[in-house]
Amino acid sequence: MTMLDLRTDAAPASAFESAAARFGILEKPDLAFTPAIARETEHLYEKVKDFIPAFEWAAYAPYVHAINRLKKERNAVILAHNYQTPDIFHCVADIVGDSLQLARDATQVNAEVIIQCGVHFMAETSKLLNPDKTVLIPDARAGCSLSESITGADVRLLKQRYPGVPVVTYVNTSAEVKAETDICCTSSNVLSVVESLDSDTVLCIPDEYLAMNVARQTNKKILTWKGHCEVHERFTADELLAYKEANPGIEIIGHPECHPDVIAVCDFSGSTSGMINYVKDKRPGRVLLVTECSMASNIQAEVQGVDFVKPCNLCPHMKRITLPKILDSLLNMTDEVLVDPAIADRARLAVERMVNLKQ
Ligand code: 13P
Ligand code: SF4
Repeated sequence: MTMLDLRTDAAPASAFESAAARFGILEKPDLAFTPAIARETEHLYEKVKDFIPAFEWAAYAPYVHAINRLKKERNAVILAHNYQTPDIFHCVADIVGDSLQLARDATQVNAEVIIQCGVHFMAETSKLLNPDKTVLIPDARAGCSLSESITGADVRLLKQRYPGVPVVTYVNTSAEVKAETDICCTSSNVLSVVESLDSDTVLCIPDEYLAMNVARQTNKKILTWKGHCEVHERFTADELLAYKEANPGIEIIGHPECHPDVIAVCDFSGSTSGMINYVKDKRPGRVLLVTECSMASNIQAEVQGVDFVKPCNLCPHMKRITLPKILDSLLNMTDEVLVDPAIADRARLAVERMVNLKQ
């Protein structure tokens, strides 16, 4: 029998020239901790000194210095989510925020290059809103359990099962899923988005707990999916009640990706920026943030006189982003985030409907 060899030595034609080819690769800078670097990064160390011991700053500072220099050289802007570590959040980010703020701010960016310090769906959202810019993520493996929980094919089946029911998709999804969607939402606008739809029944996917939490605030019938955030699903109401008992007067504020039983024992619930604003405005004497634990450190650096109780649940995906990887991104123009043109227009429409919704 003769086997047909269909392989070819020619590399498959790429639809895009890589960012490295367009911008060129830069040489790695010297990362020695010199007196000049110590001086030039002193004001940044002030912001993170409670989290990074002075002897460790010698390892951080050369990266911070090189990243801030290369950002200008590359005409790049760093967008960082509230869950990034304090060194990234306070020392190299240009814009910080929750998912909605980052999506909104991505539409206002003037730079040629966006470096997304967050997870992959956030970088995809930035690319959707900036098709002509180069969007990089320092580690393309930074995923999200909610985003992984559902595919475009799943949404098509849901639409067949519930014909005519509008689909609201959490931004924590792939562009492929967004393309099947009427409108996106984030944890800060999910109620307004649901209420904006002219239908008594709404599919709110893929976060089951976010959907259950919004169902308690609206008269509409909410249908959902069984996706969960692997960080927020770990918190329990019993654990929080134990913290309350051990810390009389403590205020507990939770992210709506937590189970409704957890939210029921919280004094306030909101998006990551909603939680930050609550702490900044109300200045509780003692507070526990029921969310990813870098965020408490990021706010702690900005508010005085608030005692943070910190159960530490980390998002392993957010934590893939580090200073050395951000530097590599800038040097090598990687990892570039591209969205399949066959789905980009429909996915963009769903994000733009959300961004343009009057609150
Ligand atoms: P926010 O939109 O509240 O920032 O939430 C994003 C997220 O991934 C929370 O886990
Ligand atoms: Fe996804 Fe949860 Fe991580 Fe947010 S914290 S990125 S929802 S896995």
